[in-house]
Amino acid sequence: MTGRTPDLDPLMDAAREAARTAYAPYSGFRVGAAILTEGGAVHAGCNVENASYGLTICAERNAATSMVSADEEDRRIKAVAVASPSAAPCFPCGACRQVLREFGCEEVVVEDASGVLSRYPFEEILPNSFGPEHL
Ligand code: THU
Repeated sequence: MTGRTPDLDPLMDAAREAARTAYAPYSGFRVGAAILTEGGAVHAGCNVENASYGLTICAERNAATSMVSADEEDRRIKAVAVASPSAAPCFPCGACRQVLREFGCEEVVVEDASGVLSRYPFEEILPNSFGPEHL
């Protein structure tokens, strides 16, 4: 699905805003993510790099940990928007897809270089996935 979807624009705005505070001194690649929960809350995060490169945490996972910390009763993810001034569109990495999956993420929203949003059902982003219900 492609197009300017009014209700997802504010979510992408939050992702773009989060990218502004990215800590990315090594890659220079800034990313922001914003999660919309079933309860209607928005939790944003940016990537946080580390001099020990492998300890870097992606924007999507920082947004997810904020969500978990904020409200035990509102941890289901309706959608996540991802923005980066360095890549358009910017999709979640494989590790982040699995973390988003844990909380039932339904949809991923990305933007192209012109700011046009595209929405992807999560099953397309991570097909045949493994999750909590399999344990
Ligand atoms: N990064 C994210 O934050 N999210 C993604 O979906 C892709 C990659 C970050 C990690 C690292 O700080 C930088 O982008 C380059 O990989």
